[in-house]
Amino acid sequence: MQRDPRFDVLFEPVRIGPVIAKNRFFQVPHCNGMGHAMPQAHAAMREVKAEGGWAVICTEECEIHPSGDVSPYVEARLWDDHDIPALRLMCEKVHAHGALAGIELTHNGPTASNLYSREVLLAPSHQPSKYGYPAQARAMDKRDIADYRRWHRNAALRARAAGFDLVYVYAGHDLSLAMHFLQKRRNQRTDEYGGALENRVRLLREVIEDTRDAVGDRCAVVLRFATEELLGEGGVTMAEAKEIVHMLAELPDLWDVNLAAWYNDSVPSRFAREGAQEPFIDWVKKVTSKPVVGVGRFTSPDTMVSQIRRGILDLIGAARPSIADPYLPKKIEQGRIDDIRECIGCNICVSGDNTVTPIRCTQNPTMGEEWRKGWHPERIAPRKSEAKILIVGAGPTGLEAARALGQRGYEVHLAEASAELGGRVSRESRLPGLTEWARVRDWRLGQIKTMPNVHVYRGSPIGAQDVLEFGARHVLLATGCHWRRDGFGRSNGMGIKGFGSAAISTPDDIMDGLIPDGPVLLFDDDYFYYASTIAEQLCALKRRVYYVTPDDTIASWSSNTLEYRHIQARMHALGVEQIVSSNITEFKGDRVVLQHVWSGQNSELRCTSVVAITARLPQDALYQELLSRESEWPAAGIQSVQCAGDALAPGLIAHAVYAGHRYARELDEAPSGDVPFRRHLHTSFT
Ligand SMILES: Cc1cc2nc3c(=O)[nH]c(=O)nc-3n(C[C@H](O)[C@H](O)[C@H](O)COP(=O)(O)O)c2cc1C
Ligand code: SF4
Repeated sequence: MQRDPRFDVLFEPVRIGPVIAKNRFFQVPHCNGMGHAMPQAHAAMREVKAEGGWAVICTEECEIHPSGDVSPYVEARLWDDHDIPALRLMCEKVHAHGALAGIELTHNGPTASNLYSREVLLAPSHQPSKYGYPAQARAMDKRDIADYRRWHRNAALRARAAGFDLVYVYAGHDLSLAMHFLQKRRNQRTDEYGGALENRVRLLREVIEDTRDAVGDRCAVVLRFATEELLGEGGVTMAEAKEIVHMLAELPDLWDVNLAAWYNDSVPSRFAREGAQEPFIDWVKKVTSKPVVGVGRFTSPDTMVSQIRRGILDLIGAARPSIADPYLPKKIEQGRIDDIRECIGCNICVSGDNTVTPIRCTQNPTMGEEWRKGWHPERIAPRKSEAKILIVGAGPTGLEAARALGQRGYEVHLAEASAELGGRVSRESRLPGLTEWARVRDWRLGQIKTMPNVHVYRGSPIGAQDVLEFGARHVLLATGCHWRRDGFGRSNGMGIKGFGSAAISTPDDIMDGLIPDGPVLLFDDDYFYYASTIAEQLCALKRRVYYVTPDDTIASWSSNTLEYRHIQARMHALGVEQIVSSNITEFKGDRVVLQHVWSGQNSELRCTSVVAITARLPQDALYQELLSRESEWPAAGIQSVQCAGDALAPGLIAHAVYAGHRYARELDEAPSGDVPFRRHLHTSFT
């Protein structure tokens, strides 16, 4: 297919100092939970993006010295020459596809941990460490500042030796000394590095100049700069940011501008739309003649073109869109717009970093598996047999299994009991703010529609006898799960007295439109997004809402997806009353008995409606029945019956998609053994 000429502008080359980006697609720095610990996995992940057409591929933040050690988080590292080969590997892989490689150097100062290095934390002035480690950072003296400049310079030289084309100076996200010196709340110095803005900018200016001096002949020097922290006076404000951009306008070769901190930058779709950062960065290009890159979870080529045409950006920065679809540029180039797997803004990718595990993505189940499983987002092995496959259930697992098996060339039959496809994705996407989650369904259906070998049957409930008579060689049960009504969950292994009746609602009821009368008590023993989205829904319907949780705060797991602060702000704005550290021991029809988890004290709260968000149960009755009739399989021509996704063990949508993909990958393949992936084995002890 031909590229739409409207999008030609996206494929114009852009000069960035001494290097030229072949088009305007720029993968901005993003961490991935692999970093320096898993260099081959990291390099393979970046390579796939280079293959997919991104002109620039950056690392995540890269530590430059042990005193800026961010353990337990696993980022890139360039402490000394030993760290060069791992990053050289990435550069070689990126260069092999004609892309440029960028590296984001940083010293995290008081936002480091030094848990591994045991060095003393450094900061512009004495202050507590950001993340609550029980140690303070000490004020840097002039020698420390000179050391820091030397470390940064040496890291830049190592980056050039590794083969990088762009070297970042990082003054973003409240995660680097270069930014900390700018912030009044972190910099109370009285010397030439503190006080007036001119002084607070001094170190940033020096580090940019050092970097240019060290590597500027061959590498572009990029400044990642936060234009607003949304913290008021103590933070970088847009007014000050404008002055800073004026002061440094022509110094870097490229301005990479965005919001700080990270939770204001990688905002989930529930709280920010595509292009939401525009009001905070649209002035930068007017101040500098250097190219500007910015972010905004850009997945629509029309929006991208608009950013360029209206003079907002020169390069389309993307982290999440490049994770969800590493081939996004290539698909636009080839006129395959409908094939773009758009990011849904769920931030499961971010949770990889925050849980110190390899990155995963709801939309792209191959993310993080490029090296260890050899999975590719676009390619999959052709079918190994003529087998006909029956998949029961068209939720995220069934749809992904059908799509990927279809791509392999199998004859696939996908049967869904209800009239609507998508399962939980369709249902959850109707909850407030989650509309974009429907992309999980829509992309897969779009792909399946082009596959004559995949047959979809809606409104087709299937029983065990139907399965046995269908003539499929392999059967996948992807029948989903349902929420429990009995109160069983993390805090109540025996359920809750008085729960289990129709008076207790579940998230399924809410999604089915069965809205209880108010006031409503939400009992959240799940700790992620359900309770707060249901609270929003109930508030929109004018119900008074009590949010009760045995946890010490609401929605605690959402801190891993950077949603926590946004959820808290919204719950407060809506007037949702939070009752934390409180379990429920009994529902008495018109009130619940609350028990404080620490004091053990009981109290009562009047309410007639309770929504239990506690645990789910697989809907695996069909699977169990088929297992009980295993003796009939051979006569029916059935070789295997498997159950996957929520029907096996309820989890995230990301787990469900992954399960479907894995099923498709592994069908008719040799078993992978007890450890089903490659590992980085540190067998060289030098
Ligand atoms: C998983 C993940 C990890 C990130 N890690 C970094 C990082 O190491 N350094 C950085 O400057 N920004 C990091 N970011 C922020 C992105 O560079 C980007 O500014 C932000 O996600 C907004 O862009 P997007 O809407 O295209 O995702 C990360 C973002 C994600 C999603
Ligand atoms: S995990 Fe979610 S937010 Fe992250 S890239 Fe994938 S779809 Fe987008």
